Order: sequence, then C-alpha cells, then structure tokens
Amino acid sequence: MIRLLSKQGIQTRAILTKAAEEFVTPLSVASLTGEKVFTELFDLTDEAEMGHIQLSRSADLVVVAPATADLMAKMATGQANDLATTALLATDKPVMIAPAMNVRMWNHPATQRNLKQLLEDGVQVVGPDDGDMACGEFGPGRLAEPDEIAEKILGFFSRKIEKTGPLKGRKIVVTAGPTHEPIDPVRYIANHSSGKQGYAIAEALRDLGADVTLVSGPTRLSEPEGVSVIQVEAAKDMLQATRQALPADVVICAAAVADWRVENGSDQKIKKKEGQLPALTLTENPDILATVSQKGEARPDLVIGFAAETQNIIENGKAKLAKKGCDWIIANDVSPETGTFGGDENSVIVLSSDGEDHWPKLSKKEVAISLALKIQDYFKGRN
Ligand code: PMT
Repeated sequence: MIRLLSKQGIQTRAILTKAAEEFVTPLSVASLTGEKVFTELFDLTDEAEMGHIQLSRSADLVVVAPATADLMAKMATGQANDLATTALLATDKPVMIAPAMNVRMWNHPATQRNLKQLLEDGVQVVGPDDGDMACGEFGPGRLAEPDEIAEKILGFFSRKIEKTGPLKGRKIVVTAGPTHEPIDPVRYIANHSSGKQGYAIAEALRDLGADVTLVSGPTRLSEPEGVSVIQVEAAKDMLQATRQALPADVVICAAAVADWRVENGSDQKIKKKEGQLPALTLTENPDILATVSQKGEARPDLVIGFAAETQNIIENGKAKLAKKGCDWIIANDVSPETGTFGGDENSVIVLSSDGEDHWPKLSKKEVAISLALKIQDYFKGRN
C-alpha cells in the first residue's frame, strides 16, 4: 500500500504498534516510506524532534491498516495507551480504517457496536473483504487489498485536491454494468456483467485528471470517489443519462446493455397460471454506442465501444466497429471458461482503423490504466 501510494506521489509516515512489529520491522517500513518510523510514545528523541500531537496533525489523512478488533475498540472508546492510539485521539485530521480480523470477531456485536460508533464519529471505512483467512475460516474480515485501500485514499484526495494530470479538463463518460429490463415489478431480464471493467476505467481516467461521469447499471460495487455516478436500471434510462452527460470529449461504452426489452411488461406481478406460460414479446433496445457515434457537431472526439463475444472475436469485433460507427472497439472473449464476466482479469484486442492491437491477459485495473494511457496519447498535441 505504501508503495502504491508513493507511486501516486503521496508521502507516507508510519507509526507501528507493538503487534505490527511482530510482522514487519521498522527498518523495512522505513525503507518504503523513506521516513523515520515511529514506535514509542515515550521516546524522548521522537518527542524532541516531533511530539505525538504534532505527529498526529502533520498528515492530511490518518489511515489505520490493518485495523484490528482491539484497535477499533480502543478508538471507539477513546483509549490512548500507545503511540498509535494517542495519535488517533489527538489528531484533528480525517481518519480511515481498513479492518482485518477473524470473521467471528468481525461479526461479534462488540465489534459491530464499535464500528457503528466509529462511523458516527466520521471515520471512513474500507473493507473488510470476504474471503479465505489465515485462520482457515471464510467470510468477512479479510483486509481489503492494498490497491483497494490505496484507491480509497486517492479518491479522498481527488475529492479535495484540484484535479491535475494529463487528462485535466477532458470530460469523459463511461457506461458500466448490466441493464435490468423489467418483465413486471419483481422480475427482469439481465446479464452477468459485474461492472468491474467499466468502474476500473472510470477510476483510471479520474486518476489521470479527467472529469468522469459514470453511468452505471445495477452492480454491487461501491461508487468510486471523485467520479460523478448516475445509477440507472434499464437501457432506455442508460441512454437518457448518457445523453444528459454530453457534451463530452470521450464516451466509453463498457456496459453490457440488454439488446432487448419486454414490450408487453406488466405493472403488476404476473400471476402464475396452471399450464399457461406468459406470452412475453421482446422489442429491440436503443443502441447507446451507435447513437453517441452518430456524425454531427456534438459527436465526442473519441467514441469507444466494447465487443463481448464468445466466438470469432476479431471478426465480430470488426463488424461491430463498422456497424456502430465508433472509433475503437475493445473486443473481449466472454465465454464462461474465460471468467471475463464478473472476474478480475481480461484479455482484450483493441480494434481501430489502425488495425489490431492484442494486449496480454491483464487485471481489469491494468486494462483500464492501459486504456486511459492510450486515450492520453490520443489527445497529445490536440487542443
Ligand atoms: O462488467 P464486467 O463483469 O467487468 O465485464 C466486463 C464486460 C465483459 C461487460 C465488458 O468488458 C464488455 O465487454 N462490455 C460490453 C458488453 C456488451 O454488451 O457488448 P456487445 O458486444 O453486446 O455490445 C457492443 C457495444 O455496444 C458495447 O460497447 C455495448 O456497451 C454497446 N451497446 C450494446 C447494446 C445497446 N443497446 N447499447 C449499447 O451501447
């Protein structure tokens, strides 16, 4: 996490608790932060150079990672019996915690009570994630991934600091996630898109300083900091929200928009009748990518679509590039065995009038960063 933050130009100063010193040495942490590591409350040298009050206020943000059940309890009750807890009590700066503990400890009413108190105190929380734990159990309690914590921290700053970066001043609209096409008030047609690829693209563009609007179908992802998010359900709402977000320099359609919706949907729950199937009629949804790509003065400089294919990826991708009238198509294989839908990795081919560019298998975040850098290149030398 320190390494990721330092790559983004964020300087970190570390305080290690006694427990932390069982896992990492002050020397190894100092080599990453490039700063003295603080460990002792009553270290006279530290107090002479920088008292704990000053230390607690010298940062723009105080992050506790990992935040154990014990540390959360101390924070929630205002205890201050070592340097870390004293700095946390003395600080006048925002605090973010990344909890990490056994699933039962996390679910324990005491921890949940402390969490509630910390949220009420304005503490920001990242994670914990669900997953396998060192103790062999499974569930919530696993420390959020370093890049997730770093992202939340970066988001905190982009919300507060004026945007800088090579895409500063560029307005970019990204669509992401699936659409839900209602059949009746309780049922809908959907697909397996998780929104991960589109959200990662919005975040990568934000990190390069772009002014990003994310038009999102229903997902389980948290809204990225520093991005304007418009939540929609069905394709026609997604089209309307995308149109309203224009004009833009770039539009990227990463959403898995349903091609069809139910024409004869019902306002009331359709009743199940013995031996009778509902006669649903499908009609075609508007094509957001094709609509935005239409020639005209308001057309964005760059319109990028995706092609989700299960066979003849390149051929079908090229056909979509021609048919939809966009500038680039990012073709990806969504056959179930690839795990592209919902997974964390993607292997894409960028198709444009320049030909085919095959990227290796990358994490969705890396695909997003590479795409953001390609967009940055596109605008180099343009006004
Ligand atoms: O969300 P994830 O789980 O991370 O998965 C990522 C992804 C596989 C969904 C993503 O990488 C992707 O491929 N998105 C496009 C999915 C899709 O609907 O592809 P398509 O080949 O059916 O559509 C082609 C293009 O037209 C897409 O840019 C799509 O957004 C757009 N489209 C399609 C239909 C429609 N009515 N309106 C559109 O804008």
